[in-house]
This record gives sequence, structure tokens and C-alpha cells, in this order.
Amino acid sequence: MKGGYRCVSYNLFLSTLVVLCFSQSSVRSQLTPNFYAQSCPNVLKVVKARVFAAMKNEFRMGASLLRLHFHDCFVNGCDGSILLDGSDSEKLALPNKNSVRGFDVVDDIKAAVESACSATVSCADILAIAAKEAVVLSGGSSWNVLLGRRDGLAANQSGANSGLPSPFDPIDTIISKFNDVGLNTTDVASLSGAHTIGRARCALFSNRLSTLDPVMAADLQALCQSGDGNTTTALDRNSADVFDNHYFQNLLNNRGLLSSDQGLFSSSEGIAATKSLVETYSNDSNRFFCDFMNSMIRMGNISPLTGSNGEIRKNCRVVN
Ligand code: HEM
Ligand SMILES: *[C@@H]1O[C@H](CO)[C@@H](O)[C@H](O)[C@H]1NC(C)=O
Ligand SMILES: *[C@@H]1O[C@H](CO)[C@@H](O)[C@H](O)[C@H]1NC(C)=O
Ligand SMILES: *[C@@H]1O[C@H](CO)[C@@H](O)[C@H](O)[C@H]1NC(C)=O
Ligand SMILES: *[C@@H]1O[C@H](CO)[C@@H](O)[C@H](O)[C@H]1NC(C)=O
Repeated sequence: MKGGYRCVSYNLFLSTLVVLCFSQSSVRSQLTPNFYAQSCPNVLKVVKARVFAAMKNEFRMGASLLRLHFHDCFVNGCDGSILLDGSDSEKLALPNKNSVRGFDVVDDIKAAVESACSATVSCADILAIAAKEAVVLSGGSSWNVLLGRRDGLAANQSGANSGLPSPFDPIDTIISKFNDVGLNTTDVASLSGAHTIGRARCALFSNRLSTLDPVMAADLQALCQSGDGNTTTALDRNSADVFDNHYFQNLLNNRGLLSSDQGLFSSSEGIAATKSLVETYSNDSNRFFCDFMNSMIRMGNISPLTGSNGEIRKNCRVVN
């Protein structure tokens, strides 16, 4: 099994739509779920235990870890480059500054992994495993994470500024940023469903209040007026910490928090492909879960460093 799931829908008795996921081997990848089977057989358990501890301390941390993997993969591939410190770091790029979080938790996971098997597991793979555990612990379904990535030797701050989608981007810009890393419109719609968990700051959605559902707009107006733009609210105010398909139901009701969320569906901005997927996912959480895991596997496959490229970083914040 190299990864990937086939989502098969059966329409039973005209009304009950059942979606089954079959693992399949057609996805070409240099990565494999068994990469550490000999060299670090407990890596999945060790990462899971540390993600669990971090989410027990602050449940939102699951969302923050999921986002870290995404922001890693979109810049020079999934190579742990987002974790590097420094004045030219990706951390200081506009989409990340005062926004991405979880670096201390990654240090904690890395320390636990190093003590189980030193100098063996990459920081890039730790992010991929942590993202999956965060989804599972939030109520989403599980998948086999493909492993074997190595860590990059440099950050790319300008790449982070240009490659990461902005909440103010129109849908066609977001689609082209996904296309640039080999992902398609299905991936845009399914992966946006990650916003079923986590928080966003007022500064990033205040522009949307005038076009939002009026009741929710009034609520957010009150929430945001006193703060400095850093006040946060749930991306999915229906079930803030649960990984479910309410994010898509919100979009049908003009309750997407970010302009980029609503843009997947709204007739003014949305395009037919993402609009119809939003409708499908809103009605069918199995289909969302299956498409989401496939898209996570595809995202995790963006330009991995393998073989003798890159390195296994000892400290995720600095190159060896
Ligand atoms: C489609 C384009 C996307 C845009 C424009 C976007 C934008 C954003 C923004 C603006 C925030 C709030 C940041 C802040 O308040 O500082 C956010 C949060 C988040 N994003 Fe996205 N995002 C996108 C796609 C994704 C994808 C593909 C994933 C993961 C697969 C993801 C996962 C998350 C998560 C989990 C959070 C909450 C993080 C937390 O609470 O710490 N997003 N996103
Ligand atoms: C940084 O990212 C940009 C955009 O993806 C890319 O064109 C460029 O080659 C990258 N630079 C380095 C040094 O990796
Ligand atoms: C996106 O790619 C996946 C995997 O190849 C494919 O199953 C899906 O149909 C594609 N979506 C679109 C809109 O082309
Ligand atoms: C938000 O917090 C950051 C970091 O503490 C601060 O630099 C910034 O000025 C605050 N306000 C806004 C609107 O981002
Ligand atoms: C949801 O599914 C039901 C039954 O299949 C259908 O009648 C309805 O139109 C669907 N709604 C959306 C928004 O797709």
C-alpha cells in the first residue's frame, strides 16, 4: 500500500448515500507508511502521545499543528522549512507572523522522538504525523501517513509570502496557488474543510462583516470592536473544536468566517466546481472525510526530499 483511498459512493434506496474508502496503490509516491518500521517502530505512538498531551493542555493546538503542516508543504515542499528560526525564516513571512503557532509543541514532540530513536525521524515527518493525529483527536477519520521525508537546509521567506493563500485572495487566485504545488480544485475544497477546527483573528475577517449573515455579523462586530485585531473566534462557530462537515453547512448559510471561505460557495465569487463540492460535503460527511484524507496525502507528497537530499535535523529550529 503506497497511499491514497478510493472514495466510492453507493446510492442505496434512493436516499441513503454511503461512501466507502478503499485504500489503493495507484498514487505514485516515494514515501511509504512503513518507512520507520525498523528504525523507529514506535514513532507513531510517541507523536500521538505528545499531540494528545498538547491538546489536553489547549485543544486548539490540534488545529495549529494541522496548519503548520499545510504551511510547511506549500513552501519548498514538505521539508520542515517552516520550523527554522532566523531573520530570513518563513515564520516572519506575512501569512505566518503572529499567526502560525505550535513551535514549542513541535520541539516537545521532537524531543520525545529523539529519545525514542535519535537522529532518525525528520521534522517534516513529525509535522505530517502530528497533523493526522490532530484530525483524529478532533473527531475526523484516520489514514496511513506516508513517511520518509527529509528536512530542508534553508527557509524561503519570499516563497512563503508569494505561495501561501491569503484570506483576501479571490477563489481563482487560491486555486492557482494550489495548482502551483500540484493540487487541484478538489483539494482546494476538501482541504479548506480544515477550517472546521481552529481560530482566526478579527483583523483577518473584519472586511467580511458587511457581506456576512447579519446575525453572525452583529455578533462578530461586538466581539471585534474592542480589541486590537488579535481577538480570535472559531472558524466554525457551529462546532468549534469538532472535525465535522459543519464548515460546509455554514457556507450554504453565508456564515463562512473568512472571505476566502465564503468564496468557495458564494455565487458572486465562487466557481462551479468548488460550489458543487461544498454542497456535496455539506450533505455527506463521509464523502468529505474521504476526499479530505486523499487531499492530505497529496498535500503531504508535495516535493519531498528523499534519499540523500536534505538531512535529518537534530533540532527542528536549526540546520545541523
Ligand atoms: C484555501 C486557502 C486558505 C486560506 C486563505 C487560509 C487562511 C487562514 C487564515 C487567515 C487563518 C487564521 C489565521 C490567523 O487568525 O492568524 C487560518 C487558520 C487555519 N487554517 Fe487556513 N487557510 C487556507 C487553507 C487551509 C488548509 C489547506 C489547511 C489545512 C489543511 C488550513 C488549516 C487551518 C487551520 C487548522 C487553522 C486554525 C489554526 C489555529 O487555530 O491555530 N487552512 N487559515
Ligand atoms: C522560494 O519559493 C519560490 C516560490 O515557490 C521559488 O520560486 C523559489 O525557487 C524558492 N527559492 C528557494 C531558494 O528555494
Ligand atoms: C483532483 O485530483 C484527484 C486525484 O488525481 C482526482 O481524483 C480528482 O478528480 C481531481 N479533481 C479535479 C477537479 O480535477
Ligand atoms: C497583535 O499582536 C502582535 C503580537 O503581540 C502585535 O505585534 C500586533 O501589533 C497586535 N495587533 C494587531 C492588529 O495585529
Ligand atoms: C442533500 O441531499 C438530499 C437527499 O439526497 C437532497 O435532496 C438535497 O438537495 C441535498 N442538498 C444539498 C444542499 O445538496
